[in-house]
Amino acid sequence: MNTQALIDTAQALVADHKGLLAMDESTPTCNRRFAALGIPQTEDARRAWRELIIVTRGLNECISGVILYDETIRQHTQEGTSFLNVLIESGILAGIKVDMGAKEVPEHPGEKITAGLDGLSERLAEYAQMGARFAKWRAVFAIGEALPGHPCIEANAHALACYAALCQDAGLVPVVEPEVLMTGTHTLARCQEVTVQVLTSVFHHLQEQEVMLEGIILKPNMVLPGLNCAEHSTADAVTDATIACLLQVVPVTVPGIAFLSGGQSPQMASSRLNALNTVSKTPLPWALTFSFARAIQQPALEIWHGENVNVEAAQAALLHRARCNHAARRGAYTDAMEQSNP
Ligand code: 13P
Repeated sequence: MNTQALIDTAQALVADHKGLLAMDESTPTCNRRFAALGIPQTEDARRAWRELIIVTRGLNECISGVILYDETIRQHTQEGTSFLNVLIESGILAGIKVDMGAKEVPEHPGEKITAGLDGLSERLAEYAQMGARFAKWRAVFAIGEALPGHPCIEANAHALACYAALCQDAGLVPVVEPEVLMTGTHTLARCQEVTVQVLTSVFHHLQEQEVMLEGIILKPNMVLPGLNCAEHSTADAVTDATIACLLQVVPVTVPGIAFLSGGQSPQMASSRLNALNTVSKTPLPWALTFSFARAIQQPALEIWHGENVNVEAAQAALLHRARCNHAARRGAYTDAMEQSNP
């Protein structure tokens, strides 16, 4: 294992106030988002959408790495350049989603365990050889009265740690994504409690599997009340709960924490990231950045609508969100930035 190369890649992913763009929706998820807007659910439409994203001029000023999906990492632009080469030439690191999705557990209704360890070493070796520099694996945890259960947390944390160890063996930086979902009526305090529980288990397993923490990126949820929670939480309460949770659980050797957006509106995600980067009185041990999918892509997808004539306007909207989050990383995001939204 080339320890220094892994550390350098992890550092590069969080350098210069940049963050990650997740564009690794599986085919069913991408198709679902297209269907909601009446965009054809074809391989060529998915290819065209992903080309629109990666050729956006200026994206490399805000985005350090993009996360691709197996179909996407093999695709080419209309002109025949591989997506990987487009990214490499613009100085953006390529990442790849390597889990095979969160699967229902028959004996535990409402819980899911992420699959994908079978054959993972071989897949990682292929992606590394193609030019990928990092990978992603997502586990999901729903909050309910008795959820998530201990066995579900343990099984997912164990799988995340196995994945992370195999990634580092293959020379890829693992992005470790345990997502506590926003769906539900739970309070902010309950989300904090569950997120602490989940992250504690994840770091226990990472350490047990001897994963080098200086060579990972953690991709957690922000600590938020459930979407249908009756209690209002102030912006400060959300920031404080998120920082308290991370300080309690995340070792200082982890170089970066890149939040998922999880269904927050793009503006909320930027504004909360901004607050997280301004509120702390003492410097935090890790970089706090973004690894958003919907909160960067959605406005642009709605403008594009599958039509060539909308490509430029969609790229402007995409770049706008990337710039807002780049600003939020250094606490420089303002409402005025939204007013200048193209
Ligand atoms: P969202 O930012 O849309 O939550 O997606 C992040 C992600 O990569 C989910 O795996």
